Amino acid sequence: MNTSPFNINELDSYLTWRSSKLSPYPLNADTLFTLIADPAHPSVAELVSLQQTCRQYNLALYRFQQGDLRSKRHVHQLAKQLGLTHIDSNLCADEDSLTSLHVTSHAGQHDYIPYTTKQLSWHTDGYYNLPAEQIHGMLLHCAQPAQAGGESWLMDHEIAYILLRDANPAYIHALMHPNAFTIPANVLNGEMVRPEQSGPVFSVAADGHLHMRYSARQRNVIWRDDPLTHAAAQFLLNLWQQDSPYKIRYTLQAGEGLVCNNILHCRTAFVDSDEPAQKRLLYRGRYYDRVSNTDREEIAC
Ligand SMILES: [Fe+2]
Repeated sequence: MNTSPFNINELDSYLTWRSSKLSPYPLNADTLFTLIADPAHPSVAELVSLQQTCRQYNLALYRFQQGDLRSKRHVHQLAKQLGLTHIDSNLCADEDSLTSLHVTSHAGQHDYIPYTTKQLSWHTDGYYNLPAEQIHGMLLHCAQPAQAGGESWLMDHEIAYILLRDANPAYIHALMHPNAFTIPANVLNGEMVRPEQSGPVFSVAADGHLHMRYSARQRNVIWRDDPLTHAAAQFLLNLWQQDSPYKIRYTLQAGEGLVCNNILHCRTAFVDSDEPAQKRLLYRGRYYDRVSNTDREEIAC
């Protein structure tokens, strides 16, 4: 018998899981933090703390307490020690595949809102990736915050699943359709950079975890032409307009970061500094792995 909470016919499993997911809310961002005393050598206890926080919330925050707060090497190492080893190289990634998010007008990047000071709407990362290259883990490290603004808003995608299913279980059925959500091909200067991608919003991975592909963008997203699909998409848009105890708001400071199982997130607009050294800079890694769930003894530092 399939006792997954994501089986729409398994009400008991769902209700037990639902209760365990919702009971810690509302929560303070401090609950999500793990302090890393030496970023060059995170301790087993620190790594376990990040993993356990991720297991409950699908996200965790960390703070490097000393050393070079802009070190990509330390960020890479931390990701690796958390099981994030298969990194996705997107169009704008640096040579080491960590993407530097900053305001830029470089060719090929100017159309992408992440590289502007504008607000970035709710999404999960890599929603336009090929089915075999779906993003399951993500890391965001702040090297330099904005002068003002640039706040991250976060929501565990499993909470979004619960809110949708509680409102109408048929929404889940619609969003699990293999063509629920289509991203048109990306054509740059007449050349196709990425083909059209169609797929479900929610899917259950082979390991039993819930995966979500989503963007609140109104342009360049085609929802399946079906009343329930449109109603579910509208439900999510309404959710973004409302106060909710399940939204976590936090502005990452230098040396702080987010590790997560590709949760829903957005970013407020920001004001950048005129000083080159003070301009907002975040590193982002996208991974085909989830944050590992191993026991303490199995972590290799
Ligand atoms: Fe993102």
